[in-house]
Amino acid sequence: MCGIVGFIGKKQAAPVLLDGLAKLEYRGYDSAGLAIRNGNELAEVVKSQGRLKILAEKTDNGNALVGTCGIGHTRWATHGEPSRTNAHPHVSGNCTGTGSGQVESEVVGVHNGIIENFTELREKLLKHGYTFYSQTDTEVVIKLVDYYYKKYTHDPQEAIAKTMVRVRGSYALCLMFKSYPGEIWVARKDSPMIIGIADGETYVASDVPAILKYSRNVYYIGNLEMAKLTEGTATFYNLDGDQIEKELTEIKWNAESAEKGGYEHFMMKEIHEQPRAVADTIHSVIKDNKIDLSSIGLEEEQIKNISQIYIVACGSAYHTGVVTQYVMEDLAKIPVRVELASEFRYRKPLLDKNGLVIVVSQSGETADTLAALRLAKDKGIKTLAIVNVVGSSIAREADNVFYTLAGPEIAVATTKAYSTQLIAGYILAMQFALVRNEIDEDKLAQLITELRTIPQKIEKILEDKERMQWFAAKQVNAQDVFFIGRGIDYAVCLEGSLKMKEISYVHSEAYAAGELKHGTISLIEDGTLVISVLTQSSLYEKTVSNMVECKSRGAYLMGLTTYGHYGIEDTADFTVYIPKTDEHFAASLSVVPLQLMGYYLSVSRGLDVDKPRNLAKSVTVE
Ligand code: G6P
Repeated sequence: MCGIVGFIGKKQAAPVLLDGLAKLEYRGYDSAGLAIRNGNELAEVVKSQGRLKILAEKTDNGNALVGTCGIGHTRWATHGEPSRTNAHPHVSGNCTGTGSGQVESEVVGVHNGIIENFTELREKLLKHGYTFYSQTDTEVVIKLVDYYYKKYTHDPQEAIAKTMVRVRGSYALCLMFKSYPGEIWVARKDSPMIIGIADGETYVASDVPAILKYSRNVYYIGNLEMAKLTEGTATFYNLDGDQIEKELTEIKWNAESAEKGGYEHFMMKEIHEQPRAVADTIHSVIKDNKIDLSSIGLEEEQIKNISQIYIVACGSAYHTGVVTQYVMEDLAKIPVRVELASEFRYRKPLLDKNGLVIVVSQSGETADTLAALRLAKDKGIKTLAIVNVVGSSIAREADNVFYTLAGPEIAVATTKAYSTQLIAGYILAMQFALVRNEIDEDKLAQLITELRTIPQKIEKILEDKERMQWFAAKQVNAQDVFFIGRGIDYAVCLEGSLKMKEISYVHSEAYAAGELKHGTISLIEDGTLVISVLTQSSLYEKTVSNMVECKSRGAYLMGLTTYGHYGIEDTADFTVYIPKTDEHFAASLSVVPLQLMGYYLSVSRGLDVDKPRNLAKSVTVE
């Protein structure tokens, strides 16, 4: 999704903005642009389509643009095709060509989000003599700010407030006014934005990694709030124009964790960070062989009264919800429903008033998940968020938050965040089971002991990663791949299949092994790769039968099971073993070879592993 970076201070702004935008590349984008201002002089806009390096080349790595105040943007097209004209910044006045050059206009700005009523506003502005050069909703909002600025008191704060009341949708806006040099104005609703403060310098960004190198003291700007940024200061206002006091928060992530650290791709680095991320997440709530959820704020009485759990999420986070469903129902005996947030929010769900809605999100900004959370809150249902990004919208709005400690995840295809979300799910299931007397202290201690071994078992799988590399290289020409499994293994198949298709562009599907006969099996041809996951002993024989059915129709079989199940070699053409663990936790291990499979297949096909086409890391529009 789009990225925003802004800077005002003593040093040159353009190199800072380019550096920050580079840190946001992982979010996905198709064009980029900068607007730089040198004191009282007019702002200079430069835009380009394609990779950020084109913008860097065009501006001599930013050195060609002089000025200590500026805003930058990477765009992921929503309204209007990817093009130089549609790239941000946009201006309030007339512009020539694709919109680069000196800006005579009063307002120049960048925007993340979607303005839903932009057609109506465009009509209004056309009637008032405005001309539009791009197809974007952003140009509409910038011109609307200009309209109110000129109509009323020529005060940026008032113009922005009037605009905020008039637009529907989501936005993080970052603006410069010609008549107010030395100031950047920002506003937000439902689109992430943070403000970083350092000595005499102020940064603004849509995501933490962009400014981590420069500042870790940040302000979170709230929904429907705006701020004036000057060198080293930020002044916040609400819609009424009243000043709001805010506390600075320190970001604990270190800057190195947002760098590749010697790995060829972020995804491989993050795969290798899983043992640490999983261990940190475990240690954050397990102390002295006891689970302590006090930091999350879940009371025992509340846990005892939960009648039903609804897990709501998107993408891989949804997949971890499917695993948690199996574990929670088996251990804590609480009925669980797992739902895609994009469906949940529109299907008018009937929610039990004693239910608990658990939303799962790495970014804490996914638009559908945030909407699902709000819907649950509106209905008066208790909410708990499993989130990675501290201070994100979901983290701030949920009643209770279980932070996963994955650290910044940069690769679009999630790995370590997924693994930590699984851990959060297990821990909730274990504690809920204890509080509701479904397991005793001994059983809990046994589960905790086992859980603590997961990081080293992941390490062990990673030691043998070349085996997956070799196998993936052989599959470089695969057209269709099927993943089959039952129970928790089916849930892992969903993730394995997604990893494969999203970064290697090989069509793949995950099926509950027993469902294969109801249609999908007709797609199996000579040589079709079928990857079977078998970690659940009670379902092992059943899945082997399904593998045999595939094999007799020509499938080439990979079996993924635990050490000891050597009989699998009679059926599978290629076998991968993972260490034994309590079967509730098996997903944490079986997912690792599947992540490696997706990674190596993508590398073998010469693709951009970290930035797959058409995808965004954080989907902040619906
Ligand atoms: C995007 C990402 C996925 C992620 C999903 C949900 O599609 O590419 O990796 O699982 O969004 O994101 P969230 O931040 O809510 O976990």
